[in-house]
Amino acid sequence: MTILSGTARLAGITGWPVRHSRSPRLHGFWLERYGIDGAYVPLPIAPADFPAAVRGLMLAGFAGVNVTIPHKVAAFAICDEVDESARRAGAVNTLVFGNGKIIGSNTDGWGFLENLRAHGVDPAAGPALILGAGGAARAVAAVLLSLGVRVTLANRTRARAEALARELPGLTLIDWDQRDHALPGNALLVNTTSLGMAGHSPVEIGLDRGARGLTVADIVYVPLETPLLAAARARQIRAVEGLGMLLYQAVPGFRAWFGVDPAVDEALRRFVAADLLAA
Ligand SMILES: NC(=O)c1ccc[n+]([C@@H]2O[C@H](COP(=O)([O-])OP(=O)(O)OC[C@H]3O[C@@H](n4cnc5c(N)ncnc54)[C@H](OP(=O)(O)O)[C@@H]3O)[C@@H](O)[C@H]2O)c1
Repeated sequence: MTILSGTARLAGITGWPVRHSRSPRLHGFWLERYGIDGAYVPLPIAPADFPAAVRGLMLAGFAGVNVTIPHKVAAFAICDEVDESARRAGAVNTLVFGNGKIIGSNTDGWGFLENLRAHGVDPAAGPALILGAGGAARAVAAVLLSLGVRVTLANRTRARAEALARELPGLTLIDWDQRDHALPGNALLVNTTSLGMAGHSPVEIGLDRGARGLTVADIVYVPLETPLLAAARARQIRAVEGLGMLLYQAVPGFRAWFGVDPAVDEALRRFVAADLLAA
């Protein structure tokens, strides 16, 4: 049993709904591991209540919160300050409360990079091809562009890719059906679409056309091994799974709220993965 003191540090995840979030499990693992007097709780908040609820959490003494669907853009709007990562992503997933101010950042891009590096992949090794133009694509494209990487993007709905390109100068767009053709010039292929998720059809792309040294990263993490990653591994192409990004994106928030720099290691991975396998 965990008994909190009267000065326990509090954080949580805001979303609507929030019951599927793995973040309480992830942060709970670290709180237990480091013996911290604190708690990380699910906070289901309806969209219309979001601004008032976040101010209320700050007034109630929370150290901050994570933000998930559908609040990431609304969270950007209520911040008193945002950092460069949030500006680049146009959305916020981590709020830190301090001196009566809400400070926002977006750790998805950083989590994506750290996960690549943990797999021995240099994200700036060469050009990248991104599939998808949703919220996650924006974070991934923006962080790669910030490293000076040449980024090409294909999305099923061209208009959505064009809207993203207006926000992210330097992005090259191709039509969705040109993705096979574009693959050979790239060192990194990233799937940020929901294709490959359990219950969805797989990503279709001709990996045999990939350059030598290609890395395939999939940010989908249910299932842990997507059909795209399995196809890459079957061809001895380096494959980087999405769970690591989820684990790393949680690090900056935990550090800010609870004052400990938490480790992303195999024990954490197994603990969170066990829950995904049980789902
Ligand atoms: N590992 C992590 O930490 C992490 C973080 C964030 C997200 N994710 C995962 O990333 C995925 C995308 O998240 P998101 O927030 O960016 O979602 P989103 O904003 O809803 O975007 C979904 C993307 O998938 C594309 N798509 C959906 N169905 C498709 C189909 N049948 N054929 C081709 N493209 C299709 C959409 O294309 P259209 O524009 O044409 O609809 C869009 O580009 C989800 O699986 C999510 O769980 C993982």
